[in-house]
Amino acid sequence: MLFSEACERNKEPIAMELERWLQRPARVLEVGSGSGQHAVHLTRRLSQLQWHPSERPESLEALQARIAQEGRTQLAAGSALADAISLDVTTDDWPAGPFDAVFTANTAHIMPAAAVPRLVAGAAAVLRPGGLLLLYGPFSDGGCHSAPSNAAFDAHLRSLDAAMGVRDADWIVDLAHHQGLSPLADVAMPANNRLLVLAA
Ligand SMILES: C[S@@+](CC[C@H](N)C(=O)[O-])C[C@H]1O[C@@H](n2cnc3c(N)ncnc32)[C@H](O)[C@@H]1O
Repeated sequence: MLFSEACERNKEPIAMELERWLQRPARVLEVGSGSGQHAVHLTRRLSQLQWHPSERPESLEALQARIAQEGRTQLAAGSALADAISLDVTTDDWPAGPFDAVFTANTAHIMPAAAVPRLVAGAAAVLRPGGLLLLYGPFSDGGCHSAPSNAAFDAHLRSLDAAMGVRDADWIVDLAHHQGLSPLADVAMPANNRLLVLAA
């Protein structure tokens, strides 16, 4: 199974924040679930979630391994963790909505910049009216980083692949506006991360 140290550190701060934002019961689509640690933790911590983890086809097997091994036990009351869905945001093959929320962590800076508008448009299309798009990760403002560590991370990503890089929160909000989403909150999270909350 894949394992992320960062996930272990941020999964509980994310749970505390989602507890505040998700009216439950909630049907949630997670985009780019990676190791599945967030999916498992959040369905164990928060009640009445119907959580649908997803990944690109080439990474789906590793995600499903964790869901199969850990995703059926110790769940919070009324919560369920579904089998992992294949989803590349750049395709039109999104799962059928409506979802009460679309959550994604640490994906906008990894996927190519050209894929980010597809992420936002795809999420907007599957959200119910009033549903939330929740994006967790590092974000910059007008090209300025909020911490030296984020600037270094951004430079590192761009040295690996010019299409990767920390995204501007303003750009995300602008993309969201074009899809009919309104910004609700921009929450500071540990280690210079943020949770952008946008409503359909
Ligand atoms: C740094 S990992 C984050 C994984 C997990 N959400 C976490 O916080 O640990 C970035 C994830 O983005 C996913 N990703 C990249 N491009 C994508 C795309 N076009 N569609 C869906 N997911 C994508 C990758 O497969 C990877 O799992």
